[in-house]
Amino acid sequence: MRDSELEQLLALSEPAAIAALYADAYRMKLEYVGKRVSIRGLIEISNICRKNCYYCGIRSGNGKVERFRISREEILDTVLWAYRHHFASLVLQSGEVASEAFTAFIEEIVREICARTDNGMGITLSLGEQTRETYRRWREAGAARYLLRIEASDPELYRKLHPADHSYEARTACLRMLRELDYQVGSGVMIGLPGQTIRHLVKDLRFFQEYDIDMIGMGPYIPHEDTPLGAGLRLTEDYRKHQLELGLKMIACARLLLRDVNIASTTALQALDPRGRELGLLAGANVIMPNLTDTAYRSGYRLYAGKPGLDESSESSLEALTKSVEAVGETILWDAPGDSLHYFRRH
Ligand code: 5AD
Ligand code: SF4
Repeated sequence: MRDSELEQLLALSEPAAIAALYADAYRMKLEYVGKRVSIRGLIEISNICRKNCYYCGIRSGNGKVERFRISREEILDTVLWAYRHHFASLVLQSGEVASEAFTAFIEEIVREICARTDNGMGITLSLGEQTRETYRRWREAGAARYLLRIEASDPELYRKLHPADHSYEARTACLRMLRELDYQVGSGVMIGLPGQTIRHLVKDLRFFQEYDIDMIGMGPYIPHEDTPLGAGLRLTEDYRKHQLELGLKMIACARLLLRDVNIASTTALQALDPRGRELGLLAGANVIMPNLTDTAYRSGYRLYAGKPGLDESSESSLEALTKSVEAVGETILWDAPGDSLHYFRRH
């Protein structure tokens, strides 16, 4: 696919043409992964973060956030709950913390999860930029996948979204290290950022291609009121629609271009529309990541306005999820690790 073709697809405005784009991407998804949805349980283990990204609700500069860190026992309880409920894949996510104590804590938790589930749980980490040695220790402990979004693949745009001491080069270096350490590597961007053009989005897709990314987690940008980027931006009905549509078009283009990668239908889509997650599946995504974090902590992990599911219990949200996936004719792959086909093809 040429850049100009991708640009055209992302710029479509005619509803019938957009529907045709989604349908093409869905056909491509059927060809490569079938009518199957991989499921990962998301556990948000802490909202403490040393970074201060201009768009993010839990940035270190936001004094309004009550910070939490869940204990080893609470994490393991949630993991075992997920295991009993036929999850075979989970994501441990937190803000970025760099300390020996944190590295050792994660290392130990990963080992414990492997031991307590007979290695039956695929573990994905999403814990930000770390040293090679830290990544190595976590890989060796048993984590096989890592998610690190590039957020915006254009260095210029990246600089506008982050304080001066957040380095684009450091982030791409981390992505390369993760690949060298033989992780399945996930990355992604925010879609519909202020200052972002269609050209930027095409570059983002090329970035995934160039870095040979195995899993894509990207979603629409949603303004958060207590952030420099989001203050003053109002989430009107039109804005919502626009962000949702652009997010879905990016999923569709990613599927058409990258074919065999895993693509998540992210919570940000659902925050914009109650059916957002299903719409993502119909536009070519094949992964969903329900939040299993204890509801007591959920409100502390608000990255953007109106994050859904803040007071649902995990049991009831699982039921709702299963129903909504079945309603679009797809089946959840329970008890399956849902590895990236792309990763295995590379090997
Ligand atoms: N809107 C959408 N996504 C956001 N993230 C952070 N802030 C926002 C926002 N305001 C995303 C980032 C980060 C992920 C955990 O959440 O891409 O990598
Ligand atoms: Fe921290 Fe990630 Fe939020 Fe940046 S986007 S402030 S690294 S949690």
